[in-house]
Amino acid sequence: MKKNKIYEGKAKILYKGPEPGTLIQHFKDDATANNNEKMDVFEGKGVINNRISEHLFTLLSSIDIPHHFIKRLNMREQLINEVEIIPLEVVIRNIAAGSLTKRLGIPTGEKLNRTIVEFYYKDDALQDPLVSEEHIITFGWASQNELDEITSLALRVNDFLAGYFSAIKIQLVDFKIEFGRLYKNDEVYVVLADEISPDSCRLWDSQTKQKMDKDVYRENSGYLLDGYNEVAKRMGLLTQNGASKNKKPTLVKG
Ligand code: TMP
Repeated sequence: MKKNKIYEGKAKILYKGPEPGTLIQHFKDDATANNNEKMDVFEGKGVINNRISEHLFTLLSSIDIPHHFIKRLNMREQLINEVEIIPLEVVIRNIAAGSLTKRLGIPTGEKLNRTIVEFYYKDDALQDPLVSEEHIITFGWASQNELDEITSLALRVNDFLAGYFSAIKIQLVDFKIEFGRLYKNDEVYVVLADEISPDSCRLWDSQTKQKMDKDVYRENSGYLLDGYNEVAKRMGLLTQNGASKNKKPTLVKG
C-alpha cells in the first residue's frame, strides 16, 4: 500500500494513518547537527529511537501524562494521534550543559539548584530562538493556560524520567520535548507529542559521565550508536551485551 506522506523532518516522517485523526510516525536513520551543517546516516538509529520512545511514552502513561502515542506498528513506525503541534521546543534542564553553558558561561556539569524550563520558538529560518512566556503569548504561539499546562507536564515528565534513568545509572542532564493540541469530542487537550530518545536528551553515565546521546555526534567524540545501544540495553530493550559498530544488537521482541 502506498503511504501518503504529509511531512518529512530531519529524523522522522509522518504519513496519514489508517483511521481519521491518526498518523504513522516513521523514524529515519538520519542524524543532523548544528542546524544541518552536519548530516549523516547511522544504520539502525531509527529502530532504536522508535523502541526507546515507545517505551518511555508507555511508562509516562502510568503517571497519566497525556500523549499522542497509540502503539508501535513495526521496527521503524508507530501509530500516533494526529495533533496540531504547538511551535515550541520545551527544554528541561537539571545539569548545566550545551547552549546554557555557552550562553551564560556556567560550567558544564554543574548541578542546577532548581530545574529550568526554557522555550524555543520552532522556526528553522530563525534557528529556533530562545523566547520568553511573554513572546509566546504576545505572538499567539500558545495561550497562558496552555503554557501553564505545558510547564506543569514538562516538570512531571522530568521528575519521572530523571528517577527512571537514575535507577539504570544514567543522569538525565536535559531534554527537549514538544506538545500538541489534540481535538477530541469538541474539546482541546494539550498532549506530549514528537519523541523522547537519545536524539533529544542528554544522557550521561552516572559514574563515568560518559555521554550516551547525540552530543557524541555533535562533538565527533565516538560512534553515536554505541551510546544509544547502551541506553536501550539498560532499559531492557536489547539482548546483546557490548553493542558496537561491528556487532548488530538484537532488539528484544515485545
Ligand atoms: P541545547 O543545550 O543545545 O539548548 O539543548 C538542550 C536539549 O535539547 C538537549 O538535550 C538536546 C535537545 N535539543 C533537541 O532535541 N533539538 C534541538 O534542535 C536542540 C537545539 C536541542
